Amino acid sequence: MFGITQLDGPKPAQYAQLAEQARGLLQGERDRVANAANLSALLFHALPQLNWAGFYFFDGRELVVGPFQGLPACVRIPLDRGVCGAAARERRTQRIADVHAVADHIACDAASRSELVVPLLQDDRLIGVLDLDSPEPSRFDADDQRGIEAIAHLYVESLQ
Ligand code: SME
Repeated sequence: MFGITQLDGPKPAQYAQLAEQARGLLQGERDRVANAANLSALLFHALPQLNWAGFYFFDGRELVVGPFQGLPACVRIPLDRGVCGAAARERRTQRIADVHAVADHIACDAASRSELVVPLLQDDRLIGVLDLDSPEPSRFDADDQRGIEAIAHLYVESLQ
């Protein structure tokens, strides 16, 4: 059985604890759907103030929704649209304090107010993105970005 341990201490310490739990969860498994599913569940339940946590996979043309926790989401996102598209296209994390200020933000859940999207790159190949949404404006700071980028890295490593 895998329990989710309460995170405590300063945020960087919390992300170190979360990364440790993620390592345990991914250990010995390479399946990209299985690992994305369990990681979505871990992130959604361990981190406060999220309304969506999950994966979009790149199919060679656009992003297609993968395992997630939260309300049903848009299935396909072209690379030239939305925050997820920008993360995939620019291959750079997008940390958006107020999604209402982003002209082409795609509202899957109207409750979302801030968003953190990390591209998933294996060597130079785009696999997809890891997307977190929050109902709180400015929910994600630089510590969250570093912490989630580290977890995204663990996910990509687990596939090898
Ligand atoms: N808001 C995202 C779409 C994905 S959902 O939030 C799950 C975007 O603008 O790309």
